[in-house]
Amino acid sequence: MTKTNVSALFQDAGALYDFMGHAPLDYDAGDNVSLVNLGYWKGLNAYSKKHLARSNQALFQLVCQNAQLSEKDDFVADIGCGFGNVAVLCATDFNCPSVTGINISQYQIDQSIERVERQNLQHRVAIKYMSATDLQFPDNSVDKMISTEAAFHFDSRSDFFREAYRTLKPGGILSLADMVYNQPANALERKILPHLQDGLYIPSANIYGLNEYIEKIREAGFEIMDVENITSWVRPYFRRWAFSHPVNLVINRKFSWIVSTVGFLVYPWEYIYLVAVKP
Ligand SMILES: C[S@@+](CC[C@H](N)C(=O)[O-])C[C@H]1O[C@@H](n2cnc3c(N)ncnc32)[C@H](O)[C@@H]1O
Repeated sequence: MTKTNVSALFQDAGALYDFMGHAPLDYDAGDNVSLVNLGYWKGLNAYSKKHLARSNQALFQLVCQNAQLSEKDDFVADIGCGFGNVAVLCATDFNCPSVTGINISQYQIDQSIERVERQNLQHRVAIKYMSATDLQFPDNSVDKMISTEAAFHFDSRSDFFREAYRTLKPGGILSLADMVYNQPANALERKILPHLQDGLYIPSANIYGLNEYIEKIREAGFEIMDVENITSWVRPYFRRWAFSHPVNLVINRKFSWIVSTVGFLVYPWEYIYLVAVKP
């Protein structure tokens, strides 16, 4: 049965991240890196708290490198920018002159702005309240668009693809890392999925596998440059990290949210990166 509302707990994904507050998973890692993704664990065969941070950095690097970022990119947009880490990285490590990170979590926006100010990057990095499905950028104005582990929340992801296509310049690149939730394959998965949608704000319109994902990107007008299913470098490692640090998963959470999301540790979600170009 398809859910009618996206989430019984949150009015939008911004409310979910406002609720999560500061650095939910690595709150005690003590290295001032506020993280909200599952990481790319290739080559990292260890599970200390710090390894989550390293895997997060590796995922950021992967998405930025896939976008072929450079100082020649006049305008770069990071969609669903979390705590602003990637927007800052685009400026510091890839020398991009003008980067805008967008988000609909006011808490994360405030934290991101503080991060940008701490690094004195206000002249190159802007953080704005804006939805991925209603981009306030002119047509054909963005050189590179990146989005790390956020598009599965967008209502809908296809609407975001259309907005990305409209706002990218011809030749512009869209670089994504994303979670893929296939339709449930059995009774247990059918039971779990609606709770995950509630707890993690996943619209029903985004429940499909990689083949359909690629079709939807193409329907928006993009050509695929590269796509890879990297589940084996994310899921088993993140789960192992999570089971090694159970307190990090539940600390400061409401009971109803924990119940909704516990299936996350067993649902067979997949993880991909995808790079596409606007012809
Ligand atoms: C899993 S977090 C990833 C954050 C960041 N990219 C990272 O990897 O650290 C998902 C992010 O997408 C943002 N988000 C969700 N829906 C959004 C929307 N419709 N428009 C813009 N941002 C959105 C959330 O607020 C959150 O910052």
